[in-house]
Amino acid sequence: MNQELDLLFKKLWEQYITESPEALDIYNLFIKNGENVINDHVAFRTFDDERVNINSLGKFFEELGYKKIKNYQFHEKKLLASHYEHIKDPNLPKVFISELITKEFSSFLQSIVKNCIDSINKNLLNDNTILYRGALWQPLDYEIYKQLLKESEYAAWLYAFGYRANHFTVSVNHLNKFSSIQAVNQLLKDNNFTLNSFGGEIKGTEEELLEQSSTMANRVKIQFKQGEFEVLNSYYEFARRYKDVNGNLYTGFIASSADKIFESTNVGSN
Ligand code: NI
Repeated sequence: MNQELDLLFKKLWEQYITESPEALDIYNLFIKNGENVINDHVAFRTFDDERVNINSLGKFFEELGYKKIKNYQFHEKKLLASHYEHIKDPNLPKVFISELITKEFSSFLQSIVKNCIDSINKNLLNDNTILYRGALWQPLDYEIYKQLLKESEYAAWLYAFGYRANHFTVSVNHLNKFSSIQAVNQLLKDNNFTLNSFGGEIKGTEEELLEQSSTMANRVKIQFKQGEFEVLNSYYEFARRYKDVNGNLYTGFIASSADKIFESTNVGSN
């Protein structure tokens, strides 16, 4: 693997498991069971401001051998998304980047987003280390967080956590012992992890060529200017892909399933 890409994923993973320790516990559970964990995809969230939108973040991956493959729309959550794949190495994780369509929200939300992005050091906008630099708009204001949460869980999460991997996703296809989503889910439940059951524990079907499940998001303490508060962080995801009629493994995403997976960080759902 390209060294810079290797380093980027390493940094993203280190940050992710620091802020989502449950993911590391699950990763270790697979290792303990003799599995080799390969990532299906790594997901990022951003705003639609052209300084940081899908194309701006996506270019960091394009510079490292990735190519944009497909676009998606999530009407309910007011999101656009694209997925990227590495041109040469299909075993490298796909990259899924979504962006919030801010014009569909209040002027309050739009002005907060603009202020946040205005405060990012310009040099960072052209530096792929921005992908794991977190919330670059300190100090965080808990009142703003709560206000954003009323409009969009996605916006509130992004405000609190900023740039980092929202989640990593284990490729169930690469597991030996736990080769179905059902087996993975059972392993997690047997070890007292809570699955996101919104819309059923398994999102998608074999006919749709992609089945996914995820844990519920963890609560973590975040430093705001008013003090420390617990907020919902992210989840760990599992994906099992199937071959299409031509025998090619499906590499896309299913908007309706992703809509339900997004519920893993919905404060109201758990
Ligand atoms: Ni995902």
